[in-house]
Order: sequence, then C-alpha cells, then structure tokens
Amino acid sequence: MNRLHNSQSHSFASDNYSGVHPEIMAAIAQANGGHVGAYGSDPYTARLQELIKQQFSEAAEAFPVFNGTGANVLSLQAALPRWGAVICAQTAHINQDESTAPQAVGGFKLWPLATTDGKLTPELIAQEAHGFGFEHRAQPLVVSLTQSTELGTVYTVDEIRAIADYCHQLGMVVHMDGARLANAAAALGVPLREITTDAGVDILSFGGTKNGLLLGECVVVLNPQRLSDGMKYLRKLNMQLASKMRFISAQFIALLEEGLWLRNAQNANAMAARLSEGLRQIKGVSFAYPPEANGVFVRLPAGVADQVRGHTFFYDWDEQGTVRLMCSFDTQVQHVDDLLQAIKTACAAA
Ligand SMILES: Cc1ncc(COP(=O)(O)O)c(C=O)c1O
Repeated sequence: MNRLHNSQSHSFASDNYSGVHPEIMAAIAQANGGHVGAYGSDPYTARLQELIKQQFSEAAEAFPVFNGTGANVLSLQAALPRWGAVICAQTAHINQDESTAPQAVGGFKLWPLATTDGKLTPELIAQEAHGFGFEHRAQPLVVSLTQSTELGTVYTVDEIRAIADYCHQLGMVVHMDGARLANAAAALGVPLREITTDAGVDILSFGGTKNGLLLGECVVVLNPQRLSDGMKYLRKLNMQLASKMRFISAQFIALLEEGLWLRNAQNANAMAARLSEGLRQIKGVSFAYPPEANGVFVRLPAGVADQVRGHTFFYDWDEQGTVRLMCSFDTQVQHVDDLLQAIKTACAAA
C-alpha cells in the first residue's frame, strides 16, 4: 500500500485528527500473533483489569468498547431503567454530537441544561432534578458530567464531589464522560481516581482515542452497587463487544502501565497553554472560555479564521465567531508557534 497522506501534517481541528502514538502501535504489534481467546477471554484484557483496579479502585471493572458514543450510551443504559432520563449540560457530547444514539439506541431521554462554561453545578442540576415518582415525567436518575468539558474547562475535585453528594442524596447516579479525562487529571495534577472514584463518580467512559490510541474506549464501573449487574449483556446488545478485544486492551495497557496517558495529556495541555499565552498577546483575540486543558476557544477578528485556515485547519465552533483550537499528544512547539504567527499576521492585516 502507498502512503496516501502527508505523515508530517498537523492541524488544530481535533485530537481525533492525530495518528497513533508509537508506543501504542508497538503494543498492538506485541499483542499480535498466535491465537488467544476472543471477546475478552485473553491475557491482555485480564492484565487491563488489574491496571484499572490499580488506577481506580479494587472494585473497579473495565469494559473495553469501540468508541466514545458507545461507551456513553452503554454506561447510561447500565445506570437507568427504561423510564429513566439523564441530566447533562446542553453542550455535552451526548446531547450535541451523538445523533439520536442516546434516545434510539439507549432508549433514554436527556434533560439538557444551559451552562456558561460547559460545567454543571448542584444548583443547575436542581432545575431538572424533580418529579421523582411522577409517572408522566421521564425520571432524572443520572447526571452526566464531561471531564474535561466540551468547552475546554475542567471540573475541580471539589466541584465533582459537590455534584456527586447532591446526586447521591437524591438517589441519582453520576456518570462521567471522560473522553479527555487524562487531560483533566494532568491539568489538575491529580491521579485519575481522585476525580472519579474518590469524588463519587459511579460509572466512567474512559477515553483512549483522543489520547493516542488507534481506537478504543473503556467503560469503567466504579460503583457496582448503583448499576445494572448486566453490563456484559448490555455491552453485547449495544454492539460494543469486540471479538479481538486483546487489541483494544493492549492499547490501554500501554497507556496505563508506564504513565503514557499522563505524558500524552501533559504534552497536549502544555501546547494549549503555550498557544493561549501567545494568543493573549495578540490584539483583537478574545477568549470564549478559560483554556484549562487541551482545547482553546477564541474569537478572532472577522476574516482571520478563514485566512489562517490556509495554513492549518481548525473548526468554527459557534455562530458568535468562536473557533476551537485543539492540541494533541503529538502537537509540537513549532506547530503552535507557526499558528500563532499566522494569526498574528492575519490580525495585523484585518
Ligand atoms: C466529550 C466527548 N465524548 C465522547 C466522544 C467520543 O465520540 P466517538 O463516538 O466519536 O468516539 C467525544 C469525541 O469527540 C467527545 O468529545
């Protein structure tokens, strides 16, 4: 096969635009060859279970899946009866970017809430946490948080704890969409368990793809008491049971065993911090949200975004002229500095 793309290209479009970290590629190769059990009955998935317990708690259980939408729908289904609903931020991936999967595949309703920065609070949640026992209302039995958020902000440990305490008091389950959990932990300088298990999260969609994996996410059951005991059946009926699971598990082993998850996230965050620092110096640029992880959301003077896109691609985010600049595990100083120079030049001419 001939290479069909420029392997040196880089963009700020999405942390999904990046390729695969070489250590992950090596892990896939290492897991190759020979025959092992299918559907998770393999030594790599067994090793992943050990690592997940080390990272999150002895009670934690890993369910590797194909993608983030599947991880979210499966997690939420496991936490809800058929009459259940999920309270989430209006900007949540489950609300804005998963088509009708939550409704059509998951079979549950969403109660989305407007936020200023992508983060829920107990006060906001209270707007939809009502009608318990009223048969006409989809029962708000789960709250889903995204960490780090779709707007590049990060919940502190105390903020998560306060939400979890509030939810548990009302009998609600806490789900975390951790597609970028590693970036949040790196930003806060805490272990993964401090913003999940220890803060009261019950079930987690643990992201891998955005942090250097080829594909694969992992649902982590943190508090089995609050969830369906039919996870393995639910994963299959959600079409998220991989027959050659060893290759998803091997990637997570490589991510977790020697701290690659942290190194990758730290790099992406550091590049976003450098980018933010540079953008702060450019007249005409304003920040839509505080850049706290690996995403930078800024408003640029009219015409600047389209001009800069001639150098490197990124997405418009909203109708107010916000653009989203995402940094990845493989973003380098030169990529950031080139982008800053292009924005500076375009702003000066605007
Ligand atoms: C916050 C969040 N959750 C989940 C996902 C995973 O989505 P996918 O189904 O594309 O893997 C994404 C990907 O963009 C995301 O940004």
